[in-house]
Amino acid sequence: MEIIIRKTAEECAEFAAKIVENYLRINQRPVLGLATGSTPLRLYKILIQKNKEQAISFKKCVTFNLDEYVGLTSDHAQAYRHYMDTELFQHTDIQIENTHVPDGMAEDLRQECQRYETAIRNSGGIGLQILGIGSNAHIGFNEPMCSLSSRTWVKILSRETIRANARFFNSPEEVPKHCITMGIGTIMEAKHCIVLATGESKADAVVNMIEGPISANCPASILQMHPRTTIIVDEDAAKRLQNKSHYTWVEQNKLDWQQY
Ligand code: F6R
Repeated sequence: MEIIIRKTAEECAEFAAKIVENYLRINQRPVLGLATGSTPLRLYKILIQKNKEQAISFKKCVTFNLDEYVGLTSDHAQAYRHYMDTELFQHTDIQIENTHVPDGMAEDLRQECQRYETAIRNSGGIGLQILGIGSNAHIGFNEPMCSLSSRTWVKILSRETIRANARFFNSPEEVPKHCITMGIGTIMEAKHCIVLATGESKADAVVNMIEGPISANCPASILQMHPRTTIIVDEDAAKRLQNKSHYTWVEQNKLDWQQY
């Protein structure tokens, strides 16, 4: 794990944007894994701007989103397909047929999960996966006590996540209880993972993910076993880390070819 600590959420987004920019530049057929939620919004704004300035292009890019609610049509204001269209895709040169979000309205949800896994595999696999983290340390919608080797599947949201996401709905009762999410095993196959975490509400999840034991109680902790994960946190989210000065030391002493 590589830990990058920046003062503000904006600086975190800029750092993440640099990684995405380099990834898009270097790869002929980039395959990006994408997240929704509040955290990546700043990053998406920067990417839209870079695309407008023609510093990057999404034309050859294929994307796979982590998750989708079950039972929301794609035009529902809280559907993740709608979020992606309005927060990123519509403002870039991406070809919409190259963007993938699980279909939470599929008649056969199990078949949809298998279709999604196959589509990821057929694309050549995810090269760069962007992740947020829940305050209970979920990644995707893989909640505490989930299998640490699961594949894309229908999961039940924890009551904590329903409460956290109720801010986007009129009431907690409106938050769907089910979702389709890439499994932890699926996420772990991405070649490079970036986790963005900002704000004090993520401080416990961040310290458990980085410095705690690997445990299903903290799904994000499995990333300690991932060959290449970059965790980008602001000072509020980094608050409880014990080894902050070591992470800064490592970042300052990277060799040229280890930079982005
Ligand atoms: C969303 C997702 C979730 C969020 C997490 C944090 O696609 O996979 O794991 O990343 O719930 O959400 P925010 O950023 O809203 O705090």
